[in-house]
Amino acid sequence: MERKPFRILAIAGSLRQGSFNQGLLRAAKEVAPEWVEVQFFDIGQLPFFNEDVEAAGDPEPVRRFKDAIATSNAVLIATPEYNGVVPGVLANALDWASRPTGRSVLRNKPVALMGAVLGQSGSANAQAALRGVLGRIGAIVVPDPQVLVPRASRLFNENVDLHDERTREEIRQLVEAVAHWCRRVQPEEPVGTQSVTAP
Ligand SMILES: Cc1cc2nc3c(=O)[nH]c(=O)nc-3n(C[C@H](O)[C@H](O)[C@H](O)COP(=O)(O)O)c2cc1C
Repeated sequence: MERKPFRILAIAGSLRQGSFNQGLLRAAKEVAPEWVEVQFFDIGQLPFFNEDVEAAGDPEPVRRFKDAIATSNAVLIATPEYNGVVPGVLANALDWASRPTGRSVLRNKPVALMGAVLGQSGSANAQAALRGVLGRIGAIVVPDPQVLVPRASRLFNENVDLHDERTREEIRQLVEAVAHWCRRVQPEEPVGTQSVTAP
């Protein structure tokens, strides 16, 4: 029987055009094995989380976001840190995805983290904070390898393509780790959000 592709939903914690973190995600798609599909979701299209808006029904971009998570085998987040924490745009996306509490599409969803910053931390603080948030939501954060990219500007060319072979190899190992790890802990195919809300 033919093996279904393993689907990874890629999310960047930076919206800017020349984002190094978006560059990390493009590199992940390039280095992924041929049986792994990497799809991007632009969290910039999500509105600010507001419980009143939520009570009236999830807006269309939020529904698409939740469905994209639900139908993916795993999520890959690449994020900078802003002032030592998770950028607001990513925190906002996770707020939407965390709902309804206890029945989030991220529950039991494997999530892999990486991040690039201009400073020395390599995004370690943001990743540590994310582990806490994702753990609270009930996602399963893949323990390793850690991909921390400090002083990111030296590793990308003018098209924001990652040219550093060592970092590309780290990303390849992370993608393989999440895929192999998932196949062990989550042998079944993911299903859409309907199954999450079905009685
Ligand atoms: C609001 C703000 C806060 C930042 N805080 C940090 C920080 O705490 N540590 C750091 O290394 N870089 C910090 N930076 C610089 C980012 O590392 C840099 O802008 C990086 O390129 C952002 O990722 P991107 O290329 O994916 O947009 C900050 C940038 C902004 C805009």
